[in-house]
Amino acid sequence: VGGSAVLAGGGLGVYYYTAKLDTVGKVSFDKALSIPPLAESTTNASGARVFTLGIQSGETRFKAGSATRTWGVNGTYLGPTIRARRGERVEFAVRNGLDQDTSLHWHGMHLPAAMDGGPHQVVTAGATWRPRWTIDQPAATLWYHPHVHGSTADHMYRGLSGLFIVDAEDTEEPRLPSQYGVDDIPMIVQDRAFDGDNQFEKRVPLLGGALGVIGDEVLVNGTIGPYVDVTTRLVRLRLLNGSNARLYNLGFSDDRTFTLVATDGGLLARPWNTERLYLSPGERVEIVVAFKPGERVELRSYPSEYGGTLGRINGFDDRLDICQFRAATTLSDSPDIPSTLGAAPDLAGEKAAQERSFALESDKINGRSMAMDRIDFGVRVDTVEVWDVVNDNGFMHNFHVHDVQFQVLTVDGGKPEPHLQGWKDTILLPPGKHFRLALRFRDHTDPNMPYMYHCHLLQHEDNGMMGQFVVLDDGEKVGVVPQQSHHH
Ligand code: C2O
Ligand code: CU
Repeated sequence: VGGSAVLAGGGLGVYYYTAKLDTVGKVSFDKALSIPPLAESTTNASGARVFTLGIQSGETRFKAGSATRTWGVNGTYLGPTIRARRGERVEFAVRNGLDQDTSLHWHGMHLPAAMDGGPHQVVTAGATWRPRWTIDQPAATLWYHPHVHGSTADHMYRGLSGLFIVDAEDTEEPRLPSQYGVDDIPMIVQDRAFDGDNQFEKRVPLLGGALGVIGDEVLVNGTIGPYVDVTTRLVRLRLLNGSNARLYNLGFSDDRTFTLVATDGGLLARPWNTERLYLSPGERVEIVVAFKPGERVELRSYPSEYGGTLGRINGFDDRLDICQFRAATTLSDSPDIPSTLGAAPDLAGEKAAQERSFALESDKINGRSMAMDRIDFGVRVDTVEVWDVVNDNGFMHNFHVHDVQFQVLTVDGGKPEPHLQGWKDTILLPPGKHFRLALRFRDHTDPNMPYMYHCHLLQHEDNGMMGQFVVLDDGEKVGVVPQQSHHH
């Protein structure tokens, strides 16, 4: 595959694709998809589930030839899947075994800002950080990753990420395929570029790294060219775009219809059938795919509607093979997908306590670059706000908010498409479109300890396309970020 990416040097390490990439037919699908192990836990005296996560460096063999220098959690690349139930108290011992500062952020989780693992919860080299909270949100596919300001792109590119699945009581969960690794398959989709010695390259596209890394090989759970043996009629895929910058336009090689059942924050109210689905960095979807005995079909990323010159730089014109599904000659039956799934977002009828607007442009939000010691605003606890978000330049951006799952009220004044009608924490922002989001801030937190909102294209985030907010009581004022918030 490597040779199919045509690159041209722009000098000083600036590279860009000169042709669109097409890997269809060039991926051999000769390795079984690696399934991240479920994280082990113990229960402590107070009944909390305790997980131990060791962040480490190592080497990973992705392909023939040299091993690749990588980072991982409890392993050399990526990390285990954490699984816990709504209502459970969880505690973590996050040990930083690297020789530099990092952090672990729980993307999509509602929790106190001091436990969030963002830029103010840096874990210094050799230190152990012990966040704890009670899980208080519906079943969903969340994830974790580093969030050190200025180094997030680098740390994630080296391999630090993992899934965090929240389960809810059985009575709340519809009957969907749920045997982990069998008919309920986690898929962390990432792109990487390898150099001649199999090391991760940091190809920087045009305009001084305006986008970040776009790789020419796709990895799923760290496997290049994976296949999955299908043994049941229906399979649920929990897909995370764990890439630094690449947008995927997912579909199957025979253009079959598949069913979207969940987005970032959990189940949709009802299933939605589609043939294509965009997944921008940080977003998750759960889809259910029906298979026929004996068939083979590939999951791919297709060229997107955002093609053209910019599309070439961004990889929007690329056609990529991702994973092959091989159905057994006899498949065990699966229950049909229920016609109703989760609780629909209910914020549309709420009166907005405050409206705000956010324009993303040139590594800034509303003309301001992220400053660690500046809290941009405070919201009032127990209120609903409406945020109008727009991408004001031609590049691709998306928008992620910590602490909450939000509801997309309108897109350019119209009703959002079905895939935007469930709970979301990250949305793709095609240039010029206005997204109105409703957000409810459920819990007060320390006025000195902010949550983040930012573009999840990691280079943009590192470059400053990020801001900070706190959740305040009535009459309370925005605080001051403590100087030293590192954990030794
Ligand atoms: Cu996935 Cu602020 O992050
Ligand atoms: Cu961006």
